[in-house]
Amino acid sequence: MPNTAAVPIAGNRFLIVGGASLVGSATAAELLDHGAAEVALFDNFAFGSEAAIAHLKDHPRLRLIRGDVMRMADLLAATKGMAGMLQLAAFMTLSMDRDPWGGLDVNIRGVQNALEAARANAVRKVVFASSNATYGYGPGVAGDLVETTPFHSHGAPPAAIIYGASKIIGEQLCRDYHRKHGLDYVVLRYSTVYGERQHYRAANALYIIETFDKVKRGERPQVFGDGSETKHFVYVGDLARANRMAFESAASDVAVNTSGPEPITTLELVKLVTELAGGGAEPEFVGNESGKVRLTSGGAFRIVHDEAERAIGWKPLVGMREGLGRLIAWREGNEGKQA
Ligand SMILES: NC(=O)c1ccc[n+]([C@@H]2O[C@H](COP(=O)([O-])OP(=O)(O)OC[C@H]3O[C@@H](n4cnc5c(N)ncnc54)[C@H](O)[C@@H]3O)[C@@H](O)[C@H]2O)c1
Repeated sequence: MPNTAAVPIAGNRFLIVGGASLVGSATAAELLDHGAAEVALFDNFAFGSEAAIAHLKDHPRLRLIRGDVMRMADLLAATKGMAGMLQLAAFMTLSMDRDPWGGLDVNIRGVQNALEAARANAVRKVVFASSNATYGYGPGVAGDLVETTPFHSHGAPPAAIIYGASKIIGEQLCRDYHRKHGLDYVVLRYSTVYGERQHYRAANALYIIETFDKVKRGERPQVFGDGSETKHFVYVGDLARANRMAFESAASDVAVNTSGPEPITTLELVKLVTELAGGGAEPEFVGNESGKVRLTSGGAFRIVHDEAERAIGWKPLVGMREGLGRLIAWREGNEGKQA
């Protein structure tokens, strides 16, 4: 048998740790559509919800496991017989701001526990959800962000830096398990995710949903600062495909960016969401709302995803107009109204 880290989807079992989530629910559907024998969603429902996975709950090959990444026994039981594990369970910046103790536990010890369980039960490949937060925030972040771009911490909010640093540690724990135990892994550095089953936990994606909600209420949408700040999003369906392709590819021991086709300025974003919401008043330019964690950069930047195409054959297919249209269609539909 060739020595390859490729794990085909059809006929294999997969565990999604932190699976009752935005990315988890989309990836579960993607793996099931590609013939996975079983997809198990492991979650303690700290942030995730039954609503996020309601569209899947009656699927015959989907299993829900209530478990906590802080409990080794839960993970050891859940990883038995799994060919692949997608590790998503995490606190993001806003949750990290509220509870850094809990966040560091989950993002560091939780990742180590998941890797240890994968090793103990000979899971063939781990895909780890990292983030463009590994490049940091603040004035140092500008231009092309590639996988070798260093971490910037100066001038950014502590919670964003703690989050980014915790993801760097998670990536290094993957490398450590590869070096010491031969565990195959691919790290995907997601940029800000948006799409169906959008939640209110990601600082950047909040912009989309808050703008939409304001326009729908007939209020003026708000732009923070002069609107020139860049955001680089990725559509959740594109990410689900990236997760699948990371399992299927022969790649191992790599970390690659998975960002959408193009970045967008906040002014362009607010105008586009307003248009897609059916039109509304011109945006109002405001300063920072006191107390809110805002993710700033040093100006225009782009998260380059060329390396993902080389490593796992992936590139994003869904642009902002189309992806936002899908998000809004979901929000306007029955499932989104209840979320
Ligand atoms: N959403 C984004 O914009 C974004 C951007 C970059 C990276 N990421 C990363 O992608 C991953 C998934 O993001 P998402 O937006 O789908 O997140 P999410 O908040 O929807 O999902 C995280 C899941 O982990 C679960 N969880 C938390 N603590 C747990 C614990 N102790 N045990 C078991 N489960 C636990 C939560 O209940 C939740 O369902 C995360 O690792 C996140 O850091 C997300």
